[in-house]
This record gives sequence, C-alpha cells and structure tokens, in this order.
Amino acid sequence: MSDRQGFILWFTGLSGAGKSTLAEYITPKLKDLGVLVETLDGDEVRQNLSKGLGFSKEDRDTNIRRIGYVANLLSRNGVCSITAAISPYREVRRECRELSEAPFIEIYVEAPLAVVEERDTKGLYKKARAGIIKEFTGVSDPYHEPENAEIVVHTGNESIEESGEKILAYLRERGLLP
Ligand code: PPS
Repeated sequence: MSDRQGFILWFTGLSGAGKSTLAEYITPKLKDLGVLVETLDGDEVRQNLSKGLGFSKEDRDTNIRRIGYVANLLSRNGVCSITAAISPYREVRRECRELSEAPFIEIYVEAPLAVVEERDTKGLYKKARAGIIKEFTGVSDPYHEPENAEIVVHTGNESIEESGEKILAYLRERGLLP
C-alpha cells in the first residue's frame, strides 16, 4: 500500500467534451511525479465491468455506481482514480462522492452542445439527431450540470493544455501532489 493520499478525479460532461483526452493529458504528468494512477474510462468500462449495460437511466446508474465503487477501492489505497464517464445524473454522482473515503474531486468538462455536436468525433450526434441512436445524452436524454464541481474546465474555448494545467494547479494547491 502506498503511503500517499489517494483521491478520485471524477470527470463528468457530454460525449465528446474531452473527458478522456484530459485524463490522457494529466496521467503521464501525475505518473512523472510518482503518483499511482488508474483510469476507469467510460467506453472501456462498458467493454468489461459494465458489459451488456445500455443507456437507460437504470443502466447508466448501475454503470456509474460500479465505477464509483471501484474508484473508491483504488483511491483508499493510495491510488489516484480517474473516472471518465458522462455520469449524467447529479444524484448518482453525489452518491459516489458520499461513498468515497478519499478526497473526491468533481471536474465538470463543460462544452456547449453546439460545440460537441460540431466536433462529432465519433459521428454519434448525427446518428442521435437522425433517431438512429436513442436516449443520447444532451440530445434526447438528460445531462445534469454539476452545481458544486471542484473544477470546471471549458473545452469549447480552452486548449487541452490549459484545462489540464488548471486541474494540476488545483491538485497542487490542495496538497495532493508529491
Ligand atoms: S454513462 O451515461 O456515464 O453511463 O455513459 P458512459 O459510460 O460514459 O458512455 C458514454 C459513451 O458511450 C457512447 N454512447 C452514448 N453516450 C451517450 N448516450 C448514448 N445513448 C450513447 N450511446 C453510445 C459514447 O461514445 C460515449 O462516449 P464518450 O467518451 O462520452 O464520448
């Protein structure tokens, strides 16, 4: 077990807002400092831990609770657990925060719908608008914006470096980095 304090970096935001990209940006920087890092990425979790789950509210809640459970196991043992799932429902995010035995840092990766839709990196918004994909977050399914996130980054008008450095600066200020 590490003698360092673990913590959870809980990214939340629309599909394509930059959650995974930001996680990928900060991970090597944290590792360089000697922080143990493990990432629970939305897409990856759904291929493994949450295989078979869909996008109904019930399935999303189950998915997020699983992620919160594993993130807690890791962080209480000195790991920086990064989660990068949309986690659209405020109440379940709060549940995960309450479950956490280590500092829980919610990071709202904010980008206007128009911006993520324009990016449409995976072509999913187009399919959602066409009705091919149902219950698509932001288009035909809700996204509850965080009201008390520790960090808010605006990827519509900040570069990944700017947003990533904002997160690292916050962690430094909180004394969570070696
Ligand atoms: S959730 O709501 O937190 O359980 O979602 P998550 O596990 O992060 O999965 C989101 C990724 O799945 C793809 N996808 C959808 N997203 C939203 N709504 C619907 N209906 C949907 N169907 C598939 C999409 O690629 C999301 O990836 P990201 O990485 O967020 O862009």
